[in-house]
Amino acid sequence: MQESDLKDLLSKMSTSEKINQLLQLSANFYEGTADLVSGPRQSLGIDEQDVKEAGSVLMAVGARTIIDLQKRNLKDKVRPIPQLFMADIIHGCRTIFPIPLAQGCTFNPKSVQEIAEVAAKEAARAGVHVVFSPMVDLIRDPRWGRVMESTGEDPFLNSVLAKATIKGYQGENIGGKDKVAVCVKHFAAYGSPLGGREYGSVDISEIELQNAYLPAYKAGVDAGAKLIMTSFNTLNGLPMTCNKYMISEILKKKWGFEGLVISDWGAMRELVVHGVAADKKEAAFLSFDSGIDVDMVTDCYTNNLEQLVNEEKIKMSEIDKSVYRVLKLKNELGLFENPFKDADETYDRAPQINQVNRKIARKVTTESFVLLKNDGILPLPKQMNEKIKKIAFIGPYVDEKEICSAWAFFNNNTENITLKEGVLNKKVAIKTYFEPGCDRLAYREKLVGMRKNHINELSKAELSELENRAIEVAKKSDVVVLAIGEHYDYSGEAGSRTSIGIPEHQLELFRKIYRVNTNIIVLSFSGRPLDLREISQKARAILQVWLPGTEGGNAIADVLFGNHSPSGKLAMSFPYNVGQVPIYYNELTTGRPINEVNREQRFCSRYIDAPNQPLYPFGFGLSYGQFDYSKIQLDAHELTSDSKIDVKVVVTNVGNYTGQEVVQLYVHDQIASIARPVRELKGFKKIALQPGESETVVFQIEEEMLKFYNSKGKHEAETGKFDIFIGPDSQTHNKETIYFKKTS
Ligand code: BGC
Repeated sequence: MQESDLKDLLSKMSTSEKINQLLQLSANFYEGTADLVSGPRQSLGIDEQDVKEAGSVLMAVGARTIIDLQKRNLKDKVRPIPQLFMADIIHGCRTIFPIPLAQGCTFNPKSVQEIAEVAAKEAARAGVHVVFSPMVDLIRDPRWGRVMESTGEDPFLNSVLAKATIKGYQGENIGGKDKVAVCVKHFAAYGSPLGGREYGSVDISEIELQNAYLPAYKAGVDAGAKLIMTSFNTLNGLPMTCNKYMISEILKKKWGFEGLVISDWGAMRELVVHGVAADKKEAAFLSFDSGIDVDMVTDCYTNNLEQLVNEEKIKMSEIDKSVYRVLKLKNELGLFENPFKDADETYDRAPQINQVNRKIARKVTTESFVLLKNDGILPLPKQMNEKIKKIAFIGPYVDEKEICSAWAFFNNNTENITLKEGVLNKKVAIKTYFEPGCDRLAYREKLVGMRKNHINELSKAELSELENRAIEVAKKSDVVVLAIGEHYDYSGEAGSRTSIGIPEHQLELFRKIYRVNTNIIVLSFSGRPLDLREISQKARAILQVWLPGTEGGNAIADVLFGNHSPSGKLAMSFPYNVGQVPIYYNELTTGRPINEVNREQRFCSRYIDAPNQPLYPFGFGLSYGQFDYSKIQLDAHELTSDSKIDVKVVVTNVGNYTGQEVVQLYVHDQIASIARPVRELKGFKKIALQPGESETVVFQIEEEMLKFYNSKGKHEAETGKFDIFIGPDSQTHNKETIYFKKTS
């Protein structure tokens, strides 16, 4: 539709039609016929006309459903305006990829883009127009269950991967075939709730907000994201749903965001519960005045905007602008010409997952695993040898199909490959045993899940039978691969926990197995970094496999048996214990840092009962290859505003296996007007090397990399010395120093 036609349409719409374009309802409002007389509509306080006029619907599933809903929506209307269908496509649609935190560990924007391309295609064919992804919240506290949805603790990595994801979903043009619009979330700083407790308040200084938390949202805006979702939390006292400074000043004016701003589910009504609005009418006013266009599943706008206009608190012209933004998005998606866009039942309901998509999933899943420890026991042989003739695969995740997160709504579990299936697919010439050993949950443990309740209903006798069988096979095997970890509903939205270890009953299984066989390789399944202290001391190898998705079992088998060398690097630190959290590598320099000299002294910044360092730091991850780094070489020592310095290292694979390595560049500002992080990631490159092969990796240092927000609110680099680190993780000692002189 031409812009003039769109404006013409807007001018003809009734007030009710306009306001309801700003209403988003969930799919259950449209199920069957009951929706129009009872149920969700009644409890929300909206009438039949609102349901019919609502501008968008979330969480409708599948091409058939969405085509039917769209037909119903357009039928018999004077002005048939297509509805937008939005959904939480978080790590894949039908083909489920590793959780975003695991995607972060690939340090590979190409792979992350590929994931988004497949997810976009499957979502578009299932009738979806907008995906509530990527989530770019910076995360520092593994107690928070939603760390699984973010790509990690680093602003630079998050920004690079946010851009790659958006490119994959939106392509050049959201109206194009198999493309969808993205909604970047949750603006802003949702990832730092007090105590890691879901929906808790967030207090962050302006400087930290600008330097650490906001860059990834800004990267999303710069990459052309069509929507932004505000977060549930208060930020420095004010709920984000009505945070005018953040939405209008920062997001819209400063960053120039022209797309749609949508509140999170029910968040507008929650302004009353927060105690910042007396009632829903005031909540509607505050939200609208702050710059929120679309109200997700409340009646605040629908039942109050018109009255607010009549009372001259809100201008109709402002409502028109919001409505126009909704219509514009629909138009960019091409919905006025084809309201069903790419909805395609034959693809969506194909009896099998598309094989190309499976192949991509298998490849990127292997890349997301992080090898945390290996004393040489991995990779395992595919044929019997002197040492290994029998392998026992033990643990509740050995034959488990639920290896996706709670956000995998459109996944059919039966299509997921378990570890056992993956190993059997390999057809190794070694005797293998498969035993669960225990349940994922402890005896009688009950989890109230998002989609269903999970209960361990096994009796004590049944559990001890499982355990005995596992111990028996462990005894007679040469190696035990122990697949343990967190149930997927331990993480995700509202999945905050104060204990972040391997569940105690599984740790107990580990101990019992260890008594009969010390050759243990642990596969750690989880949606968050775990406290792996005990395991790290006793196990011979640890592979962090997260919640790996559809091709999980095949990908794990590929890595265990050496078809792929693991190449993931941690996108989030693994704490030594929960008392260290929040813990992240890029903390500010303290006045009393712990060092070699004061290590035994008390009055420095330290714990007296634990190390300062995490168990496994950001950027860390082993490979079957072994990489040697040369010292850093610089082509100049002085940098100006107009020049660049090439810094390089030679990386050599001195091991016996081909492998990929993520070469990481960190910078530290020695003296600045405010305390600066001990180091910050500013670049990374993923390279593949054969045994004996070397590659020279070059990074360019320029002024832009040295900039930060200072106490005057300026984003600038300051003259002075900077340390440059290049190495395999955030704790590398490979260092050089340059001098930067501001010249313009
Ligand atoms: C979550 C959002 C999600 C929305 C819609 C909310 O509870 O916070 O991330 O997109 O629900 O499902």
